[in-house]
Amino acid sequence: MLIPELNMSVVGKCNLNCKNCAHLACRTEYAQWHLSISALEKFIISCHDSDYIIETLNINAIGEPLCWENLLEGLPLLHQSKIAKCINLVTNGLLFLQDTALLTTVLNYVDKTSISLYEFLDDEKKIHIRELLTHNKVRIFERHYFGRRIASIDETYSIPCKCMCGLTFTDNRISICGAPGHDAFKLCNLPYPDIFQILSVPVKKDWYLEVSKLIKDYQGKMVLCMHCFNNSNKYFYQQRDRVASL
Ligand SMILES: C[S@@+](CC[C@H](N)C(=O)[O-])C[C@H]1O[C@@H](n2cnc3c(N)ncnc32)[C@H](O)[C@@H]1O
Ligand code: SF4
Ligand code: SF4
Repeated sequence: MLIPELNMSVVGKCNLNCKNCAHLACRTEYAQWHLSISALEKFIISCHDSDYIIETLNINAIGEPLCWENLLEGLPLLHQSKIAKCINLVTNGLLFLQDTALLTTVLNYVDKTSISLYEFLDDEKKIHIRELLTHNKVRIFERHYFGRRIASIDETYSIPCKCMCGLTFTDNRISICGAPGHDAFKLCNLPYPDIFQILSVPVKKDWYLEVSKLIKDYQGKMVLCMHCFNNSNKYFYQQRDRVASL
């Protein structure tokens, strides 16, 4: 089975704190978490057992993937596993500036790296990040500002929503609602991880079939969706359409 796009979370912490980051609640909750190598191996085996091929695997953390303590061991494993046709590392790129050898190493194991270039960085850093474009696997996405996240329980996005749900991999589960969903949990003062567990499946053979079933049951029907950034994100609308055609 072909999975068009999967977002993989590898670490909770971040070396920036962008205003209105959609992952804020999740980053705070998982600030100490790093994906372990044993969990990664288990996930790879599950993908092989299930015969899944992921078209694009986005390694985009909860926070900043270059802060993942297992990066230099994990990336080669993913690369060799061939579970994804394209591995895309999504990053703010700051650690590439401190350590140019890191970029060269990372580029050996990914098909591309997408750097989010933040307007608020100082000019010198922005110039240096733009210079990384000379590497042909580097893409840069200018981020000027993030739209305001819903701040109060009285504000809502419309439902039924059109979210496909971010699929976040953690040490023992694959969750249905991605990191932006955590923001909504917090805002609604709902008791996760309890609810988070309901919306997740353990890492095992055929996990994606279970995920798809749960997405159908939950998508667009939860009170959470009314407060969730994913619900307002055009990108996820497109993803959902692609998944629906599987
Ligand atoms: C949460 S970041 C994780 C990876 C890395 N820290 C980064 O900033 O690229 C993943 C992507 O989500 C985007 N993002 C974060 N908060 C957002 C928001 N409120 N609205 C739109 N995009 C957002 C970031 O720009 C980035 O491209
Ligand atoms: S760098 Fe990425 S994860 Fe970190 S605060 Fe900014 S958007 Fe959020
Ligand atoms: S919009 Fe709804 S289904 Fe999608 S991530 Fe948010 S809470 Fe989950």
